[in-house]
Amino acid sequence: SDPYEGTARAEIAVIGGSGFYELLESAERVEVDTPYGAPSDAVSVGTVGGRRVAFLPRHGSHHELPPHRINYRANMWALRSLGVRQVLAPCAVGSLRTSLGPGSVVLPDQLVDRTTARVQTYFDQGATHVSFADPYCAAGRTAVLKAAGEAAVEVQDGGVMVVVEGPRFSTRAESQWYASAGWSVINMTGHPEAVLARELALCYTSLALVTDYDAGVERGEGVSQDEVFRVFAANVERLKDLVLRTVPVLDRDRACACAAALDGMDLPFELP
Ligand code: ADE
Repeated sequence: SDPYEGTARAEIAVIGGSGFYELLESAERVEVDTPYGAPSDAVSVGTVGGRRVAFLPRHGSHHELPPHRINYRANMWALRSLGVRQVLAPCAVGSLRTSLGPGSVVLPDQLVDRTTARVQTYFDQGATHVSFADPYCAAGRTAVLKAAGEAAVEVQDGGVMVVVEGPRFSTRAESQWYASAGWSVINMTGHPEAVLARELALCYTSLALVTDYDAGVERGEGVSQDEVFRVFAANVERLKDLVLRTVPVLDRDRACACAAALDGMDLPFELP
């Protein structure tokens, strides 16, 4: 029997990025197992503004998992199996534009996948192909904007996030190439998280905190991990505040396309 049955349920999840390891007060820790193995950590489940929220630190509780070692499939599956249908995903990003300085918060509306070695699907059998033209939930972005307005936090609505394999940072040439393509920010974890959310018909909203200028933007040294952690730490409370204010603003009834992403499709398994 399931010892957590009836207790640890959540409708909203927050996946914390580098330096974002805790969110909820008086949370219940739930160890969740999945057909894909264990998620990055136990999931904390608590209440925020009357809504049940699950929190999962993406890199593990002590940042033991680099981006390419995260079990993205297990993470998203675990969240859905607790009842989650909407995901808020804060992350650290590099900026590809001089106009977007460290500390800026961007709500990407597009994604470019430059990863090379990640399992990025649940659909390993049969012909199941989800639409991914709009990778992020429009309603989720609207909710963050509303919360940001209330908190008087400035956020940039929209932007293209390019996700690289890492764990190394980009060369100047790569970075200049991404910038010249018109992309806004760069990161190592936004994919396959977003597409796996879509494959489970979850709403997914990325809250990208700029920690640095990527190598091609300035003539400086290029980004270092120290800088990423330092700037993230300096801004994490502001980001947490924004996330906590967004939770109660999220629609209870999902009218967005994400909810219907799998309608009429032949799935090779039953959704958790
Ligand atoms: N995460 C934070 N800053 C980054 C950068 N410049 N490149 C890739 N991932 C990042």
